[in-house]
Amino acid sequence: MARAGGKVILFGEHGVVYGRPALAAGLSTGATAELLSAPGLTTARLTVDPWGVTVDALAPDASTHALAASTNQLALAFGAIVAAYEQPPALHVKVKMELPSGAGLGGSAALSVAIVRAFDEALGIARSPSEAADIALRAERVFHGNPSGVDTAMAAAGGVAVYRKGQPLQPVQAKQRITLVVGHSGEPGMTKETVASVARQHAQRPEKVEQIFAGMEAIVNNGKRALERGDLVSLGQLMELNQKLLVTLVLSTPRLEEMCTVAVKAGALGSKLTGGGGGGCMIALVSDAESGKAVQEALQKLGREAFVTMV
Ligand code: PMV
Repeated sequence: MARAGGKVILFGEHGVVYGRPALAAGLSTGATAELLSAPGLTTARLTVDPWGVTVDALAPDASTHALAASTNQLALAFGAIVAAYEQPPALHVKVKMELPSGAGLGGSAALSVAIVRAFDEALGIARSPSEAADIALRAERVFHGNPSGVDTAMAAAGGVAVYRKGQPLQPVQAKQRITLVVGHSGEPGMTKETVASVARQHAQRPEKVEQIFAGMEAIVNNGKRALERGDLVSLGQLMELNQKLLVTLVLSTPRLEEMCTVAVKAGALGSKLTGGGGGGCMIALVSDAESGKAVQEALQKLGREAFVTMV
């Protein structure tokens, strides 16, 4: 059984696509992968639960018109992983997803890293987390178009870390555990679309967007120091600031805004969307488990799914 975790981005999403740093925390939930016995298989096969989908690996140049778009994408992403092996493994891997997809919680990266780990285990290949992340990134490119690599790096390594494109993860020593409430807007996250929308804004007004990214970078640096000091109040304020910058780039939705407002009213120290935005999840920082429960209940009263997690 191979595993990989999801993640939440505490600060710096989107800027990270442009070489700025992001601060992220690994989640213990993610994806588990196991190999099924499949004698006589000639190509690799993937089953994903609870999606109820089974696909065979597709080469990037395969003719795909006969498949539904989402199945097609999964088969191509899986094919990108399989193609990274010198001898493409004709194995049947079954992955159980513990995170919703399109939530901004790095579910697809957890899926890809879990597959790499299951194959490596079966084939006796030893790989560092960053090498596993590099292979999983090939699949993320199919899912997301232009991923920064933060999701795959975090899925492979876990913990709390600063990520910058093309550089090794920089682990952060948080002074104390922090408690977060994760709330799902119920709207599908649209990472591919929001990343493309930011790219259009960047092409039109590069100075303005770079200025926003510079602000996010300062927030990441201050956030790292606040984590190291265990300064929850500053962390909460930085989340609020980061959210304002994300709003400037039109990445939030009325529902995410409402959830952030309700979370703070219910006692959260700060809140923001997490991941690609345009839907998906928000996070709220709380001082302890009891406050987390109050915020969770307030979000549930709005009809949203929410859970409390420790980082
Ligand atoms: O929505 P998620 O979980 O894939 O997170 C996306 C984070 C972005 O910074 C918006 C994109 C990226 O690839 O880093």
